[in-house]
Amino acid sequence: MPPTSRATRTKPNILITGTPGTGKTTLAGLVTSALPDYQLLEVGKVVAQRNLHCGRDESFDTLILDEDLLLDEMELILGGDDAGGRGVEPQHAARGGSGGWVVDYHSSDLFPERWFDMVIVLRSSTSILNDRLVMRSYSEKKISENIMCEIMDVSFNEALEAYHPSRVLSLPSDSIEEMSDNVSRVVEWAEAWEQSMSTHGVEARIHVDIDPIGGDGDGSGAMD
Ligand SMILES: Nc1ncnc2c1ncn2[C@@H]1O[C@H](COP(=O)(O)OP(=O)(O)OP(=O)(O)O)[C@@H](O)[C@H]1O
Ligand SMILES: [Mg+2]
Repeated sequence: MPPTSRATRTKPNILITGTPGTGKTTLAGLVTSALPDYQLLEVGKVVAQRNLHCGRDESFDTLILDEDLLLDEMELILGGDDAGGRGVEPQHAARGGSGGWVVDYHSSDLFPERWFDMVIVLRSSTSILNDRLVMRSYSEKKISENIMCEIMDVSFNEALEAYHPSRVLSLPSDSIEEMSDNVSRVVEWAEAWEQSMSTHGVEARIHVDIDPIGGDGDGSGAMD
């Protein structure tokens, strides 16, 4: 299968990552509601529903990802024009290669860089994150592991190592107001990306990459 090319996309693909509980699924759902032509791909759900794992890690109460199976499946969904006819659900096959995916996963460095035009890393303060994870009845071990990841900026550092910094945007996600701001920023950026593409073609995207939200041109830093 030919690799997915940024040049074939008419809409951007957006990855939303961050420590569990920072609000990835909430943001992804709100963005896809605001942009009806975009579709949500909740990776954790796909892994569970399509058995893309090799059992359960009982100590963390999570599925053990089969990375190869997941990447093959996602290449069909996010990837080339021949996505149809390979066991992909029809609504997914129709979108193969043209973009418009909002992907939600707690990790980012397993995916090929070429799949994504923007990588959002959500951040939450540790006390708020702790409360959210307690609400989920996670074990103490699982909560402290996740809080430690957040303190160490694991998701942000992982994204910066895996993607060009101009495509990585860190956003705070402690409050409803911040969530609402984040939705607006992602939607505005996606619309600007599409507009640049339709007006100027691929070369215009260089500008959108460098200045993803129309701010100060530093797309890689914390935005708060
Ligand atoms: N910015 C925010 N303001 C207020 N509440 C939030 C915010 N972000 C998330 N929440 C709440 O925190 C909880 C976790 O959010 P969500 O399920 O979207 O996180 P997640 O990052 O997708 O977690 P996971 O990785 O485990 O799937 C939800 O109850 C959600 O309503
Ligand atoms: Mg989620």
